[in-house]
Amino acid sequence: MITTTQLEAWLQRAATLLDENKEHLTELDAAIGDADHGANIARGFSAVVQKLAAQPGQPARALFQTTGMTLMSSVGGASGMLYGNFFLKAAGVAGDREALRGDELLAALEAGRDGIVQRGRAALGDKTMIDAWTPALLALKAALAAGQPAATAFRACATAAEQGMRDTLPLQARKGRASYLGERSVGHQDPGATSSYLILRALADTLAAPSEI
Ligand SMILES: Nc1ncnc2c1ncn2[C@@H]1O[C@H](COP(=O)(O)OP(=O)(O)OP(=O)(O)O)[C@@H](O)[C@H]1O
Ligand SMILES: [Mg+2]
Repeated sequence: MITTTQLEAWLQRAATLLDENKEHLTELDAAIGDADHGANIARGFSAVVQKLAAQPGQPARALFQTTGMTLMSSVGGASGMLYGNFFLKAAGVAGDREALRGDELLAALEAGRDGIVQRGRAALGDKTMIDAWTPALLALKAALAAGQPAATAFRACATAAEQGMRDTLPLQARKGRASYLGERSVGHQDPGATSSYLILRALADTLAAPSEI
């Protein structure tokens, strides 16, 4: 089972990783956007960590609701709305639980990803954060269905997100600010796919068996 304490640790680890990679995310967004993604996302997750520290031990639904509302109000830009919606939709599926099975967390993450699609209307290959989330969740589903332990399954999830992130490089953006560049968006890695990979890597790191860290 994955406890809400581990979910809180996930969000803390995500905040740390996003902060460490803030300049990299900003450089990626400078190439095909407006150079605000690193600052936006680092500010948002830092606000989440502060909010959660003030209300420790919330059940999964409330934990994700707090996260989603905080991201919506503090990130700004397209990604604030999209990531905020992700956690609000995940909250609806996670329920008032203190611990989730791997497949239950998968269902919550899938609902979150579907929430991004509902808001942003991006399809796979449009060079957005969806290009990290969708292959990642397919890999997670396959690993759990094969009976792999959570630590292994969520590592496979992060590895697939990383590949999906890299695969955005040759794509032409068809959604968001980068799409204004048309063909000039080709040859750059998508910033939102990169932050999504970091968020999933934070989850894998948190669930890793001690020997794997
Ligand atoms: N419609 C969409 N669906 C999914 N993801 C999207 C969409 N539009 C943008 N994104 C993601 O958001 C990332 C950019 O986030 P960022 O925080 O820089 O917002 P922004 O584009 O600067 O927002 P705004 O244009 O509102 O200022 C992109 O790299 C992409 O992954
Ligand atoms: Mg931007």
